[in-house]
Amino acid sequence: MKATEMNSLSNDASGSPVVEAKDLRKNFGSVQAVRGASFSIARGECFGLLGPNGAGKSTAIRILYGATSRSGGSLTVFGLDPAREAREIKKRLGVVTQENALDEDMGVRANMMMYARCVGLPRADRGKRVDELLGAMSLDHRSNARIRDLSGGMQRRLVFVRALLRQPGLLVLDEPTTGLDPAVRLHMWERVRELKDTGTTILLTTHYMDEAERLCDRLVIMNEGEIKAEGAPREMIERYCPGTVAVFPKEAGLRERLVTAAAENPDFSWFEDRAGINVRGPGLAAVESFLGHHGMIPRILRPSTLEDVFLEITGRELGGDA
Ligand SMILES: Nc1ncnc2c1ncn2[C@@H]1O[C@H](COP(=O)(O)OP(=O)(O)OP(=O)(O)O)[C@@H](O)[C@H]1O
Ligand SMILES: [Mg+2]
Repeated sequence: MKATEMNSLSNDASGSPVVEAKDLRKNFGSVQAVRGASFSIARGECFGLLGPNGAGKSTAIRILYGATSRSGGSLTVFGLDPAREAREIKKRLGVVTQENALDEDMGVRANMMMYARCVGLPRADRGKRVDELLGAMSLDHRSNARIRDLSGGMQRRLVFVRALLRQPGLLVLDEPTTGLDPAVRLHMWERVRELKDTGTTILLTTHYMDEAERLCDRLVIMNEGEIKAEGAPREMIERYCPGTVAVFPKEAGLRERLVTAAAENPDFSWFEDRAGINVRGPGLAAVESFLGHHGMIPRILRPSTLEDVFLEITGRELGGDA
């Protein structure tokens, strides 16, 4: 697709944000799923919405395309209000929903042709568009297969095809690569970059911090319905987790020593993962020296990542028990 073609679809009022949310709220009975979130997404930007399970990401997204109503705040998408103009917004939006929601009994190409008709693609263009997208997603060799016979990764790619049928100005990706193998994730990232290069604005939620770090120009971290931090990935690492992280092998007595060290010098934090116990913060040198006296030395020193920022801000591990 030509860049000019995509750009004209992204937004009409030049310079104004594609999405602008102010004090957005959503209550489900007594559950406050979104509690006053404000953010804006500029044209052509890849914007990340990160947060642990239950943070309110999908709810915010569903409000955006009119699948659920908001309880408060203001919101515009392409300058339109989803509460009143969801139909108009949907015409310019492509959504990869968190659940595939595909009609598994149908054939791959037949199903996409049906969607192409539903979204109003002119009859003469449908076949070409569907075949082009199936090719771009490496699904052309399975055009005649039944959807239920596709692998999970192929079904996810097919949801991408569905989202792109109408050349969206805003592409919303709700955990597009969850559960996919590394090769399929790489393939998806390539496609997302290509779309971005042609001027598509992208809203991405993901639990993979490496994905967010690679794809997003800017992102917010949500927790319990609120936005806790905002910035470009590198900026956030510099702001919240500058310096290095020391990874100590898990060994008897290490946790107790860290608790003792924290009582003296609380200027560091740690979390445990498969690699070991990760320690970081301005007090790291003092902790290393203290632990060194007890024969405990780090296995590696690594630069901090967006995952460290995420854990620092949300205070828990990814995919926690919310
Ligand atoms: N239809 C609904 N009815 C009642 N509660 C809901 C509904 N949809 C979401 N919630 C609640 O709102 C909160 C936010 O859910 P949401 O699905 O937006 O989280 P999320 O950030 O997308 O999480 P995940 O990473 O697990 O997809 C949760 O407490 C959830 O249980
Ligand atoms: Mg979700």
